[in-house]
Amino acid sequence: MARKLHNILITGGAGFIGSNFIHYLFGMSSAEGNLFDDANFDGTVVNVDCLTYAGNLESLKDIEDKFGGKRYFFEKVDICDRPQIERIFKQYDIDTVIHFAAESHVDRSILGPEAFMKTNVMGTFTLLDVARNYWKKEDESIRDDVLFHHISTDEVYGSLGETGYFREDTPYDPRSPYSSSKASSDHVVMAYFHTYGLPITLSNCTNNYGPYQFPEKLLPLMISNIRDGKNLPVYGKGDNIRDWIYVEDHNRAVWLIVNKGVTGEKYNIGGENEWQNIKLLHKVIELTAAETGKKVEDVEKTITYVKDRPGHDKRYAIDCTKIKTQLGWERKMTFEEGLQETVKWYLKNSDWINHILSGDYKNWINKNYTEQGR
Ligand code: NAD
Ligand code: TYD
Repeated sequence: MARKLHNILITGGAGFIGSNFIHYLFGMSSAEGNLFDDANFDGTVVNVDCLTYAGNLESLKDIEDKFGGKRYFFEKVDICDRPQIERIFKQYDIDTVIHFAAESHVDRSILGPEAFMKTNVMGTFTLLDVARNYWKKEDESIRDDVLFHHISTDEVYGSLGETGYFREDTPYDPRSPYSSSKASSDHVVMAYFHTYGLPITLSNCTNNYGPYQFPEKLLPLMISNIRDGKNLPVYGKGDNIRDWIYVEDHNRAVWLIVNKGVTGEKYNIGGENEWQNIKLLHKVIELTAAETGKKVEDVEKTITYVKDRPGHDKRYAIDCTKIKTQLGWERKMTFEEGLQETVKWYLKNSDWINHILSGDYKNWINKNYTEQGR
């Protein structure tokens, strides 16, 4: 039976996946022509985000305009700030947490792991502990009409060779500071279920693509660099493999789990859509060149092979049989269509990307990446 959700606390709602999730919940999908199933949600959303470099309220302007102060509330708060998180649980009488907030970029985790441990491990712990206390009944047991859903990554499972897939029971083997911090948070979430009976669900997803992704990640970086005639930095030989899923397909899966998933269970979510980085880049060049009137041969010349990422995981691929068979989830967006829409979205929303490229991010890139030809 479906859960009845009223007041949802979304963390990290100003980031890539979180902002798309909020659009989805309010029936305002940003993917043109692809307004998928209605989420059928009529409750309240409280978006808690401390607006790191990756948080951008411009991504939520339409939501704020339409629902702000009515069914949508933004709180600029750090998830590690316990008194503030306690206040928010009380003030909005939170019954559901969907926890997206994280430091999310592998390269940054190599350059500065501390923020990853703080937000991803201690931040997740703080949210869990406040939820446990707020949802406790007089007899010390925890309400069963509440839920804490934790968003995680396939990177916790480590790196695959040419064959095989990560399943829900694949042992954790994280390699980067980012994936190790996410793996730690997954363990703390499961510990709160086993030890305190906190109703939780957990999902591990492959690489997302779509609108509102910060342009340090592969696809928006390449699209904006092609647009601007800049070099296209490929790590190593470009032969690493990622499995790509359209962000709204991920979010539909999360919503399904939050509504119908079994408490205490984890679900893998994947695109069943593996691409070698260099092959994907050629595809992106083709699509972006067509939209911008550039010549493919000219753009191809800007591909620059740069020093590989230390500990660069070779291949990620997910077996998502469980969510398909147990919850009836399936992907809706084809990669052809999704990639085309994504390229168009970044080119059309130049203001969104230009604001980011002209701010603190530019200084950070100049400081850390000059040798990589960006
Ligand atoms: P993102 O970096 O775009 O957004 C993260 C958001 O969290 C930002 O708005 C940021 O301001 C906020 N945030 C960071 N630290 C915070 C703190 N201490 N307190 C409050 N807010 C804070 O990330 P994303 O790509 O949207 O990823 C969202 C979640 O999905 C993460 O948990 C990530 O690990 C997971 N995930 C991402 C992918 C992917 O491909 N992007 C794949 C699988 C899982
Ligand atoms: P990224 O988008 O950072 O996601 P993740 O590391 O979490 O999978 O990178 C996707 C792939 O693209 C990864 O194999 C690293 C590679 N990559 C490049 O080759 N060049 C780049 O500039 C970036 C950002 C990534």
